[in-house]
Amino acid sequence: MLGLMKFLTKDSAHSVGDDIYPAFQISLWNKMSHPENHFCIRAERGKGEAVRRAIVALGLLDRTRRVISEGGFIYFPVTRRPEPDEIERISKAGEVLVNPRTLPEISPSCPKSVKEFLQGRVPPDALRSLPKSYDIVGDIIVIERLMPEADPYRKEIAEALLRLHKSVKTVLIKTGKVDGPYRIPVLELLAGEDKRETIHSEYGIRLKVDLSKAYFSPRLGFERNRVASLVKEGEKVVDMFAGVGPFSIMIAKRHRSKVFAIDVNPDAVNMMRYNLSINRLKGEVTPICGDASAISPKLHGAADRVIMNLPAQSIEFLGAARQFLKESGGVAHVYLFSGPPPIDSAVRKFAESASRVGDYELVNCRVVKPTAPKEWIVSIDAKFKQL
Ligand SMILES: C[S@@+](CC[C@H](N)C(=O)[O-])C[C@H]1O[C@@H](n2cnc3c(N)ncnc32)[C@H](O)[C@@H]1O
Repeated sequence: MLGLMKFLTKDSAHSVGDDIYPAFQISLWNKMSHPENHFCIRAERGKGEAVRRAIVALGLLDRTRRVISEGGFIYFPVTRRPEPDEIERISKAGEVLVNPRTLPEISPSCPKSVKEFLQGRVPPDALRSLPKSYDIVGDIIVIERLMPEADPYRKEIAEALLRLHKSVKTVLIKTGKVDGPYRIPVLELLAGEDKRETIHSEYGIRLKVDLSKAYFSPRLGFERNRVASLVKEGEKVVDMFAGVGPFSIMIAKRHRSKVFAIDVNPDAVNMMRYNLSINRLKGEVTPICGDASAISPKLHGAADRVIMNLPAQSIEFLGAARQFLKESGGVAHVYLFSGPPPIDSAVRKFAESASRVGDYELVNCRVVKPTAPKEWIVSIDAKFKQL
């Protein structure tokens, strides 16, 4: 057995990397307070696994450093210099040498999910209640809400999100319902830079958004792309509740169309103007600040298509929408809140008001996103007929 414990035998040789040092030099090395003071155990490759198990069984394997394979040997990093009896036990698995060698550090692996990152840092019931989704607007994450079990760990969750999304600078949480005429949410900083302004990119357009001054939801990106793809060259469009301009800009980016983009919020219209300057467009967008129903007489009969993205009130504006549309008819994209079953309820709600406005044909209906338990935003595409 002692023959295998070369570290301990005076006349045996010891290697540092691939250099061989006599035993007395090793002990001198240890006394010299080697700057890093790291050790590794060298084993023949064929015995590597058995030796590894013996090192692990002794709790000696340094998991922060790499195991290296070199020249027919495996080098196992250990957390400290092994005691003679420990070396003896390891040697039962195969001939080993102890080296004062610092093996490279393993860079801390990136967590792949918030849950993985928070494992062991927050209680299990908080882990089970982590938010299933969150919005990423440019380099800002917005959490909709946290379950009561997860809420005490909001800072930890936000820090984990920052670690997970390297390009994200800020994590915010909505603290109240999106409310008021401008539909702006109340947001609280959870982690990162204290800012609300960012540049968001979607489907080839860029948008400056200040989440404290204007409404914006990245979850409508798919819907904006869908509507933009329905627009035909040369069409005139009225975006009645345009916000910072995502529908209007996406349409004008792709089509030689003329879009009138209306919003009652002056900050949103200012951001829209800026957004027009940073996107190269085929078509033309005219930003208008004002109440859509007050604008409708001025653009009477101008549009082939209207977009009505004001889910809480769109139905009340159907009369104005019909005024914008040409007498010969046109399409309205209407967004509305709906209860269960979302499509049936939305169609019923729409029909009650739309039938008073004019004849129409229902072209399409889809659930856009859930907004609360048993509440969804539904989009309805309706073609209003000749007046
Ligand atoms: C739900 S947001 C939609 C914004 C934009 N369409 C988007 O996709 O991001 C509704 C917008 O309608 C605007 N708004 C509310 N009432 C309005 C009115 N009477 N006339 C014009 N805009 C209005 C709000 O300021 C807000 O920007």
